[in-house]
Amino acid sequence: MAFLYKDNKLMLNNFDVTKFCEAQQQACYFYDVDEILKRLELFKAHLPAKQSIHYAMKANSNTVILKSIAELGLGVDVVSGGELSLALNCGFKAEDIVFSGVGKTHKEIELALNSKIKQINVESPQELLRISEIAKKMNVVASVALRMNPDVDPDTHPYIKTGFRDNKFGMDSSFLPELKSILLNNKENLSLRGLTIHIGSQIVDLNSFKDAIDKTKLVYNELAHAGLKMTTFDVGGGLGMSYEKQNYESDYERIQKYCDVVKESLKDLDIEVLVEPGRIVTARAGILLTQVEYIKSSPYKNFAIVNTGMHHLMRPCLYQAHHEIKPVSYSSKKPMLYDVVGPICESSDVLGYDRLMPELQQGEWLSIFDTGAYGFAMANTYNCHDLPLEFCYKNGELITSH
Ligand code: LLP
Repeated sequence: MAFLYKDNKLMLNNFDVTKFCEAQQQACYFYDVDEILKRLELFKAHLPAKQSIHYAMKANSNTVILKSIAELGLGVDVVSGGELSLALNCGFKAEDIVFSGVGKTHKEIELALNSKIKQINVESPQELLRISEIAKKMNVVASVALRMNPDVDPDTHPYIKTGFRDNKFGMDSSFLPELKSILLNNKENLSLRGLTIHIGSQIVDLNSFKDAIDKTKLVYNELAHAGLKMTTFDVGGGLGMSYEKQNYESDYERIQKYCDVVKESLKDLDIEVLVEPGRIVTARAGILLTQVEYIKSSPYKNFAIVNTGMHHLMRPCLYQAHHEIKPVSYSSKKPMLYDVVGPICESSDVLGYDRLMPELQQGEWLSIFDTGAYGFAMANTYNCHDLPLEFCYKNGELITSH
């Protein structure tokens, strides 16, 4: 399905968003779960046959969404003990879980090993040693993948680049001798399953993914020559989309092209291909609905002061990210420019600058688009505000998920 305007009213298929808003008293996220599942099905259809999809739940860990993805039989990528426990509670099988992240604690590693997850994506020699020691004490074999840093510099915001030499993530080839020696000396407790990369987020140039995979294949071959046989190659997530144009078809095409690049780049290796998509799966399928509390006009600016802000959606203030903002119901009043701002006591609390909308009124509802990824997931209670509510729409049914 898709969020579309019919007769100047925002609809999700036959569901009237304006009517829904009339019954609300606070800002809320609203997710189209069918759209999320459709996108994952596209990955499934276009990746190589030996594939494993691990949804990056950091993008959106709403439990209705997680349970729906688990019901499809897909996997998940987690980055904390909290995410791992939630994934298990939502029905993901341990063997469908990969665990990423640079700072796994002793307790988190113990939980991962106890749960018997598919693989721990290791980010440093010290982490590998720690895993080996814990596995030894528990008398188990830890299944690990090495996260490489392929030193590529994709075109995206600097805060979300992760595969460049300056980033804290992964390991470059200078780490290989040490990694090999740890692996070979601790064979009874460490089993190398494969390699993994994740070069960053909101990347639209597919060549960056190809470069990163090509560089990592050199490492794969080197390790294979050293007698370390691997069965998985995890290409991470990172596929981006346009926040300026809500074009569902171009997202579908992009997913397909991305899968083609992955398939083509890895066709000469006999391995299972893992992907960890987050944003491209959930971003378009979510909107943040907010009510105008006040209109304030000075000689310089018109402000629409709304009941959400940087505490509910950090992306504009953190990455200067653009999100389309439109009234849920369009009037025929003359268009005016507004800064859409929240209640937080900071001047960075701006959701959108100079947005052209028909003259707004107090009490009117607005929709902030493409907020299904890294929206609620990064929300906080700064200034002691409440978190926003979350609603899911699935199979023609509204599900409250809070
Ligand atoms: N795998 C790993 C190891 C990751 O660190 C991430 C995201 C993903 C997969 C999923 O990446 P995606 O497909 O969503 O790009 N808060 C930022 C995005 C941070 C991404 C962090 N890692 C934003 O709002 O743009």
